Amino acid sequence: MADAKPAPVALVTGGAQGIGRGIVQWLLIRGWRVAIADIDSEAGEECLQIFSDYQDAVTFIECDTSQEASVQACLAATLETFQRLDGLVNNAGIANPLNDPVETLSLDYWNRILSTNLTGYFLMAKHAVPSLRQSQGAIVNIASVRAFQSDPHQEAYAAAKGGIVSLTHALALSLGPAVRVNCISPGWIVVSDWKKASERQEPDLREVDQVQHPAGRAGRPEDIAAMVEFLLSADKAEFITGQNVVIDGGMNRKLVYAE
Ligand SMILES: NC(=O)c1ccc[n+]([C@@H]2O[C@H](COP(=O)([O-])OP(=O)(O)OC[C@H]3O[C@@H](n4cnc5c(N)ncnc54)[C@H](O)[C@@H]3O)[C@@H](O)[C@H]2O)c1
Repeated sequence: MADAKPAPVALVTGGAQGIGRGIVQWLLIRGWRVAIADIDSEAGEECLQIFSDYQDAVTFIECDTSQEASVQACLAATLETFQRLDGLVNNAGIANPLNDPVETLSLDYWNRILSTNLTGYFLMAKHAVPSLRQSQGAIVNIASVRAFQSDPHQEAYAAAKGGIVSLTHALALSLGPAVRVNCISPGWIVVSDWKKASERQEPDLREVDQVQHPAGRAGRPEDIAAMVEFLLSADKAEFITGQNVVIDGGMNRKLVYAE
């Protein structure tokens, strides 16, 4: 009898909290093995407790995705644990879009945002490619609607997220057909319940914040996780590469005028 196909393996950056933690849970429940790569070891250790039912299917690797040596070590640790890699989910980011006004925006801050929110995605892709080629795997990059729409004082975050959308189609052309590469741009996703215990707070969300969405509510990590799983799965998304999927409850389709 032929050996059973091994369960697929995903590496989720920033997987210890927020949207990333939601993606990790979604994939574990659906039979994936998952390596959580995160700079926050307190949050990572907490995940191992929370997901203890999946003990053999989940591992935590402390990693700073903006540092190439750390990324290389993370990929090596993932392969040592699971012997393969089928999906890379680039999600780790500094999730605060606001910066100082551009006249006083420091180069240090600009570089900090770009190095985590964009360069980290490139570094992870670069070092994951050999394993993903072998498995005919896929990459999903988490960008933001702020790649396309802005409020004042969001230059660094917006530039990084726009870069992710472009990096996605560039990689898709370079790596296809062996490796598919897609992008998700979330709108407002409420992550308060998915933070580590020491940082968990009541969501700062009014009724009007919910109902302004054409879909009737703000987003949840599960809304993003379901699309991640779909885009990672070759049997469902084999003909989709280089794309960006906006998941924002329809907000970007609203005409906005002053009342
Ligand atoms: N929450 C939203 O409304 C929203 C909307 C659009 C896009 N996004 C994007 O989704 C992703 C996740 O956002 P979130 O709201 O879940 O944020 P979060 O702050 O709740 O979680 C981010 C995780 O990334 C980790 N991280 C940060 N820098 C890192 C680094 N250098 N190396 C490794 N790990 C690092 C953090 O420790 C944390 O666990 C980000 O890329 C963010 O820009 C979020």
